[in-house]
Amino acid sequence: MRQSSIHTAIIMDGNGRWAAQRGLPRLEGHRVGAETLRHIVEVAPRLNIGVLTVYAFSSDNWNRPKEEVDALLFLLACYFEKESVRLRDAGVRTTVIGRRDRLPPALLAAIDLAETRTEHCARLHFRLAVDYSARASILQAAGDDQLRSAFFNDAIPVDLLIRTGGEQRLSDFLLWESAYAELVFTKRMWPDFTPTDLRAAVAEFHRRDRRFGAVPQTFTEVVPESELAASSSERWLR
Ligand code: FPP
Repeated sequence: MRQSSIHTAIIMDGNGRWAAQRGLPRLEGHRVGAETLRHIVEVAPRLNIGVLTVYAFSSDNWNRPKEEVDALLFLLACYFEKESVRLRDAGVRTTVIGRRDRLPPALLAAIDLAETRTEHCARLHFRLAVDYSARASILQAAGDDQLRSAFFNDAIPVDLLIRTGGEQRLSDFLLWESAYAELVFTKRMWPDFTPTDLRAAVAEFHRRDRRFGAVPQTFTEVVPESELAASSSERWLR
């Protein structure tokens, strides 16, 4: 039986440390990280991932040195420009979540191109979070009817959330959508993350018992009938 497709979100962390470990500038880590992303997008549909959302630039990343911010935004613009044809040919609908009003015009134009070029694609929905803050989008939605419906339209529940680079935190990424996400943390630095690692994370996801706050499916089967007669609170107190 074919399982329904999953929404996987990735916090692509570790580019800077990967570069430092090799005596390279941090920007080289980001450049190789962008290549890693290309391979991951390619393999995602084969792993039954229907939506892939990646954290490319957080609203807190504006606090990095200007040189790194500029380079990241430039890299992103190149990525959208260069990849959009490949993405379209691969059937990958590409969209961006996050604020747009602070992005440079060249990046905005590249995003627009990629979104337009791929809008009819349906094999995978690939979303890049750029100038993104989950807390900011929740706050905004709370105070405005129109933004609230947009927020709920865009809010696709995350099934599997992966963070590379060894840290174990969410860093303001998809907080609402990840309410019941299965979390997978790996020490692998993002530039070293491979399609095999993604496959392993998805396999780990399928081994998890997702209960969404309910009791396990087997619970009623293992409880003897005499026990079932007792009220649930009595059962827990024994
Ligand atoms: C974290 O590495 C990564 C980011 C700041 C954003 C992710 C960016 C990329 C994968 C490259 C650009 C992407 C595209 C699509 C062009 P870090 O710098 O925080 O690493 P560190 O924790 O080791 O310092």
